[in-house]
Amino acid sequence: MKVLILGSKGNLGPELGRVYKAVKPTLWDREELDITDEAAVMEKTSQLKPDVVFNCAAYNAVDKSEEERLVAENINGTAVGFVARACYAVGAILVHFSSNYVFDGTNPEGYNEDDLPNPINAYGKSKLMGEMELVRNCEKYYLVRTAWLYGGQGTGKKSFVDLMLKKAEKDESINAIDDEFGNPTYLVDLAQAVAALIEQKKPFGIYHLINSGQASWYDWGNEIFAVREIAASLAAISAADADVIWKRAAKRPKYGILNNTKFIELRPWAEALKEYLS
Ligand SMILES: NC(=O)c1ccc[n+]([C@@H]2O[C@H](COP(=O)([O-])OP(=O)(O)OC[C@H]3O[C@@H](n4cnc5c(N)ncnc54)[C@H](OP(=O)(O)O)[C@@H]3O)[C@@H](O)[C@H]2O)c1
Repeated sequence: MKVLILGSKGNLGPELGRVYKAVKPTLWDREELDITDEAAVMEKTSQLKPDVVFNCAAYNAVDKSEEERLVAENINGTAVGFVARACYAVGAILVHFSSNYVFDGTNPEGYNEDDLPNPINAYGKSKLMGEMELVRNCEKYYLVRTAWLYGGQGTGKKSFVDLMLKKAEKDESINAIDDEFGNPTYLVDLAQAVAALIEQKKPFGIYHLINSGQASWYDWGNEIFAVREIAASLAAISAADADVIWKRAAKRPKYGILNNTKFIELRPWAEALKEYLS
């Protein structure tokens, strides 16, 4: 099996690289292939003729996306169409990653795979645009929505776990939001689940792959410090307070919770966190 990983140097890319180590995957990040270059995407994919392509390339700066809408839309939206068309042309399976932020987060029960997206910020809108480009331009796709990733060794943006540990190390006072909820998800578990999806030849379509259970940022922070036995002073703040204190430009879904109703459940988030931290 010939595997191509795009956005290979971020958080998720290297984890997928590890899972597929035995088949020596092709690893391309921006320097090797900028996915917004339509001609290059088609040309290089046609030359390589991969069987499976993982598109981990993304613009993930949620607040910055508000002022850089076009950049977010080009990378997270339009370029997904380029990758999808290239995969269609060579008959490759395309695994594309999207986000809990495509939902508005008004439902405390969370969101199933076939629930209607309704993004409330520019990042979410750009990710939804990518979903639509994917569906429109190829047939053999897995659209994997995930959330609140941590545990990466790559050069991607720092995770909440890294941030909490760094702040505790510096003995800073720490705030965490207690009224925004999601599914903290360990990259190692996500990468393995994605590989299992392909291995088991599951029907193409949308999947929600997250560690099971839900948490607020505050719950997550408390668990990090409990596992590491760090006596940090963690204060709960509301999302409304956070918008003011941190000058957050983007609105966040309150219940950004994904429900996995189609594939094997991943282990509980606190269990995965414990393994990562110990
Ligand atoms: N991180 C999360 O918590 C989270 C949550 C939900 C969903 N997701 C989704 O999961 C996927 C993987 O996320 P991640 O955390 O691994 O992302 P990441 O760490 O930001 O990695 C993305 C990689 O893509 C590269 N890239 C950006 N623009 C590119 C372009 N035009 N052409 C080629 N490569 C480009 C980046 O390079 P540069 O550093 O040079 O930009 C980076 O190496 C994304 O689709 C993301 O939206 C992530």
